[in-house]
Amino acid sequence: MAQAIGIDIGGTGIKGGLVEVTTGELLSDRIKRPTPEGGEPDDIVKVVHTILAELDDRSADAPIGVCFPAIVRNGRTMSAANVSKKWVGLAAEQLFERALARDITFVNDADAAGYAESEFGAAKDVDGLVLMTTLGTGIGSAIIYRNLLVPNAELGHLDIGDRHDYETHASNAVRERKELSWKRWAALLQTYYEKLEFLFSPDLFIVGGGVSKHADEFLPLLQLDTPIVPAALRNNAGILGAAALAAHGSGDRYTQGAEHLIRSTNESAPSPTA
Ligand code: BGC
Repeated sequence: MAQAIGIDIGGTGIKGGLVEVTTGELLSDRIKRPTPEGGEPDDIVKVVHTILAELDDRSADAPIGVCFPAIVRNGRTMSAANVSKKWVGLAAEQLFERALARDITFVNDADAAGYAESEFGAAKDVDGLVLMTTLGTGIGSAIIYRNLLVPNAELGHLDIGDRHDYETHASNAVRERKELSWKRWAALLQTYYEKLEFLFSPDLFIVGGGVSKHADEFLPLLQLDTPIVPAALRNNAGILGAAALAAHGSGDRYTQGAEHLIRSTNESAPSPTA
């Protein structure tokens, strides 16, 4: 049995768990803490530390994957939409490794979720282009083509029509803040997914984030040519994907920036470490 820890840092919450990385099963309770106000680096690192301490002894030697809501290149966070601007340009992977005194694999949160869906969920064995979107505090995106993940797609920040930075109009946080009905929110999502459809001609859309558990309320309202389904792993996709990337070793290539494609290990093709 291969195990790894996944930590999913979001703009609103930080979640962690121990994962069986061949099946994508969560072996521990899912531990969840609020993201500290302001999303400052040191405060977030402290919360991650507490979550790790809460996971039991079984996980002491397990590889750790951490996913974060920003562009991640060469271990650095290169953007900060819903966390402190201090993350921009920060050597974040190193910061975590020093504080936790352990190596970690560090990736974008939507990429981790997309990787998990392609390993264990709705994108598994889909022979074509899959666009995974996470609707949460922001809008995250992952591009997966025949089980290859193209990292750091930032499709939540598209300008569409006269709307600049579309996640600030249509994320789930906006729906909650403005108390939008499912119908009004779906109208905003319709515009968004139509744009993605026009730009990418995908074979499948996957919708993740906590709100995916209410998919029946809004996905049937969308009229698209592309099939659109909720994330099979719901809001655990980030934890599972971060853990799987840490265990499968793809994270090294990802964080070094030398190899920008991550091949999912559920294929017969050679794994990235081969
Ligand atoms: C960030 C992305 C992230 C997404 C979901 C966006 O604001 O720019 O990097 O994946 O939120 O958390």
